[in-house]
Amino acid sequence: MHLFKHAADLKSALSAMKAARASVGFVPTMGALHEGHLSLVRRSKSENAVTVCSIYVNPAQFNDPNDLEKYPRPIERDIELLASVSCDVLFLPPTEEVYPNGLSHLKHYDLGHLEHFLEGASRPGHFNGVANVVDRLLHLVEPDRLYLGQKDFQQVKVVEHVISGSDFQVSGAKPAIVMCPIVREADGLAMSSRNIRLTATQRKNAAGISRELFFIHDHWKEYSASELKRQAIHRINTIPEAQVDYLEFCDAGEFTLITDWKEARQIVCVTSVIVGAVRLLDNILLN
Ligand code: PAJ
Repeated sequence: MHLFKHAADLKSALSAMKAARASVGFVPTMGALHEGHLSLVRRSKSENAVTVCSIYVNPAQFNDPNDLEKYPRPIERDIELLASVSCDVLFLPPTEEVYPNGLSHLKHYDLGHLEHFLEGASRPGHFNGVANVVDRLLHLVEPDRLYLGQKDFQQVKVVEHVISGSDFQVSGAKPAIVMCPIVREADGLAMSSRNIRLTATQRKNAAGISRELFFIHDHWKEYSASELKRQAIHRINTIPEAQVDYLEFCDAGEFTLITDWKEARQIVCVTSVIVGAVRLLDNILLN
């Protein structure tokens, strides 16, 4: 695996590969890698000649300085994991390479309703920070395909919005977004770099969130949307130390709220639950 810290070195290595018409798949991450991240790398490997993974803990998307500081950074282990799945290139940039004009000169993106909706409402500025870093990384890597996890469903919608609203192209086409399924622990909990911040008891109880989503997946047709939402929030809130931030049913395409099942062709149930001091995200496609 090649490791680059400087954008210029990354670009020159990739330009040689692109000259040979090798397709490039890109997996952006913030490190503290787990099977969820590795599933994206494997998928990219299976669909491209070259797979680039980036690890950069992006300060611009953290609205809580404490969360940024506590974000795990086990870089040696991450490098081993990426090598174990034969990732071709790791881009590990310092902040000067990602934000040459500094973090106080961020671009403002018009993200439409996504900016202040659900995750956006709970984390002001978060998606603008994501848009900045993904846009910059896309310009550096110029991938044919971009691999993102369904785990962060709204983030996928934000990145789709950024790409469709810009004239950025690679070999005459916009990079394709490949949304990869959520990888879960054996008890159902969606894998996340934040799970290690749960105490043993919180970790055990947190499986109740996905249990509720699986119940919703299997039984949604038997309820109205409002009744199912009410019951699901109530049940999750009975998990010790758990507090639902939101649980909603959305149109999986437009990512707008639905109140009647008939309003959407494909429905996604999205939730954010605070367990102890950790915000956990999960979602499930119902049809
Ligand atoms: P991070 O949280 O490190 O996640 C990197 C990618 O891995 C994201 O696309 C995320 O959705 C995916 N992922 C995380 N957990 C997953 C799981 N259990 N199953 C499948 N995929 C999973 O998301 C970010 O970083 C950042 O916002 C980033 C896009 C890198 C921009 O800074």
